Amino acid sequence: MSMQITTTHSAIPTDDARLAEILSNPGFGTHFTDHMFTVEWTPAEGWHDARITPYGPITLDPAAAVLHYAQEIFEGMKAYRHPDGSVWAFRPEANAERMVRSSGRLALPELEVEDFVQAVTELTRVDERWVPDGEGEKSLYLRPFMFASEKFLGVRPAEHVTFMVIASPAGAYFKGGVKPVDLWLSEDYTRAGRGGMGAAKTGGNYASSLVAQQEAYAQGCDQVVFLDAQEGRYVEELGGMNMYFVYDDGSIVTPETGTILEGITRASIIELAGKMGHPVTERRFAIEEWQEGVASGRITEVFACGTAAVVTPVGALKTAHGDTPAPAGAELTMKIRQALVDVQFGRAEDTFGWMRRIV
Ligand code: PLP
Ligand code: COI
Repeated sequence: MSMQITTTHSAIPTDDARLAEILSNPGFGTHFTDHMFTVEWTPAEGWHDARITPYGPITLDPAAAVLHYAQEIFEGMKAYRHPDGSVWAFRPEANAERMVRSSGRLALPELEVEDFVQAVTELTRVDERWVPDGEGEKSLYLRPFMFASEKFLGVRPAEHVTFMVIASPAGAYFKGGVKPVDLWLSEDYTRAGRGGMGAAKTGGNYASSLVAQQEAYAQGCDQVVFLDAQEGRYVEELGGMNMYFVYDDGSIVTPETGTILEGITRASIIELAGKMGHPVTERRFAIEEWQEGVASGRITEVFACGTAAVVTPVGALKTAHGDTPAPAGAELTMKIRQALVDVQFGRAEDTFGWMRRIV
């Protein structure tokens, strides 16, 4: 069943000159469009009162459960402008399905895939002028999120929940553009434990990653690598990206542990690389394999991937006990990156049927 959405247009939309200035250099996550989407949930009414309103601060009771117990989930996805001016979302159902899985873990109500897709589609339509042209791989980053808005301090699943979507024009996630990022190996902190929330996209996972990320910055690195919590041996993922390792025989490995966030970019690359003749194995991947593989030359490329950062070559791995240098190259990494962005920006045929037209 599709939602009835009421739309109230902003009386003071961003003027053309200011918008052009923002879109010329959007950065990441700093500028927001003129509107936002909201829908509320209660056990009695289900999802109701879907609306698009002018973007702005929201009122939240100080006792709202999310502020105390972090019952919250989110998604990250993008809309792309194609050369003919049309606007397309990349696999929005996959984000919707992941949000359903996250809501299951966080005891939040399920938002139907169709309603999620409708919400991101309608907001993007209303704020279409905010979708940058594809020049320089700019896009509109969409941030759907759901949180416990009930005023109640008892510890139980909230009985008033809010789902919103905001949107933000996006350029490169890393300031330096596409160049290898150095990584810091976190040995003191883990991201996810057995039975924990690692596979859910929930704010708490990012809160717990910040101190490790701070350590990474202090070590001159751009991102942190987390290992599994049980043995401290198997590579999981970065603070906000999944990982890939390319071997000299053209084969590729991506970590699988049951506690990583399964990225939509990660899943897409498995299909894309397979089609390019580079089969991908999902398996547990020990940190020594990385260190020894680069040292012996068997691992020729390492890369990370995610919606915000797309595909980014990985440089050195720094640890408290010594460093592993950058792998030899990034040739296949850049080929995979190009193949993916070509589909997203409408420059290559979408043979997988990933793109959904919005405008
Ligand atoms: N892992 C984490 C912890 C993330 O935050 C993200 C970003 O969304 C990813 C992996 C990659 O997921 P996706 O490709 O769906 O963006
Ligand atoms: C994304 O790539 O969408 C992410 O969520 C990563 C980070 C910005 C949290």
